Amino acid sequence: NKEVISVEEITSFQSRTEQFFPINWYKEMLYNYPVYYHEKTDTWNVFKYDHVKQVLSNYEFFSSEGSRTTIFVGSNNSQEKTSPLTNIISVDPPQHRKSRSLLAAAFTRRSLKNWEPRIQQIAAELVEEIQENSTVDIVEALASPLPSLVIADLFGVPIHDRYQFKKWVDILFHPYDKEKLEQIELEKQRAAKEYFEYLYPIVIQKRSNLSDDVISDLIQAEVDGEKFTDQEIVQATMLLLGAGVETTSHAIANTFYSLLYDDESLYQELRDNIELVPKVVEEMLRYRFHTSKRERTVKQDNDLLGVELKKGDVVIAWMSASNMDEDMFENPFSIDIHRPNNKKHLTFGNGPHFCLGAPLARLEMKIGLETFLEKFSHIQPIEEFKLESNLTPSATGQSLTSLPIKVY
Ligand code: HEM
Repeated sequence: NKEVISVEEITSFQSRTEQFFPINWYKEMLYNYPVYYHEKTDTWNVFKYDHVKQVLSNYEFFSSEGSRTTIFVGSNNSQEKTSPLTNIISVDPPQHRKSRSLLAAAFTRRSLKNWEPRIQQIAAELVEEIQENSTVDIVEALASPLPSLVIADLFGVPIHDRYQFKKWVDILFHPYDKEKLEQIELEKQRAAKEYFEYLYPIVIQKRSNLSDDVISDLIQAEVDGEKFTDQEIVQATMLLLGAGVETTSHAIANTFYSLLYDDESLYQELRDNIELVPKVVEEMLRYRFHTSKRERTVKQDNDLLGVELKKGDVVIAWMSASNMDEDMFENPFSIDIHRPNNKKHLTFGNGPHFCLGAPLARLEMKIGLETFLEKFSHIQPIEEFKLESNLTPSATGQSLTSLPIKVY
């Protein structure tokens, strides 16, 4: 197990709200400490767009392998030791290529096309439940369920098991809380066990009865004569859950937050021109997604960032800060869905590890938002809402636990 770097020591945010939207900290770091050595954690930190891109993608110098990490999720999939084939996130090319290609078999352009109507149906069912002229908690009603119901559907899990599936996902990726460490660990272990016991027979059964879903794609995937075993497929699904559910929920919830509190005219603009939704999606990923950071370990001494880096040094690339680099984005501290290069944000990373699920995440955000927009002509915040008490620490930094919206 890797040593976890305590990133909070670097940022020293004073409140949940500040961590939810750390714009002042980014400004300070971008302007004054663009390449910052933090002594206590013994890490280099970079914020500028070009630096972040370089660190994420130049694997000859900056390796995804290493003994320290900033990620503290704890999905606990210790049921079985992770197989090398399902380790994709912390290996470099050329080894990385094989696991990536196997997993990518389930994320082709064709599969995305096939998934679109299924995602639409799930979004429609969720939005249908929301009453007109009411106050809805959009986290509970849409942002939280959509990604896990979608992924259950794409895996080919029977429809009546989906809410159970969502429960496991919630427990598995629930962040650790220092006060209740042991209890959470036990719950996670139980959920992991139940999940394995549930999914394993499904994989076996699909082997002799292939259909149009992610598990069937993973069963058939083959690279250089190698294929996933049943055990590895269960592990691969766990990896996809860890990478794809909470992140996408966070992105959807924050989009609604932004529509309510950042720019009140945007909702009407979208109602008038629903074709703009993909632009909003990109701008929200750039502007309202504040968790993105990834570490790499220096593989060979170099001065690519303008300082002397030694083999073994840890560099943290702050993607969300780089999305606000003035040298890349004009007026980066305000929302502009029409800025031509919004899509260049680094929220999905860059280089060989670029998020495999980015097209799926974008599609879920787009369909979720469109489906909602089609039904409701106006939205409004409620006066009593206090951001600070509606945030909770999560794998994605600070996540909204609820977001009430008045809908008309
Ligand atoms: C990798 C972000 C949704 C699957 C990554 C990386 C980032 C990222 C930054 C690169 C990690 C690195 O360079 O070390 C996001 C965000 C999402 C999202 C912001 C939602 C808004 C998804 C979804 C899936 C997914 C929906 C699939 C169901 C993966 C996988 C990798 C990955 C498998 C590993 C790729 C590799 O190492 O080659 N994601 N992700 N992600 N993501 Fe996503």
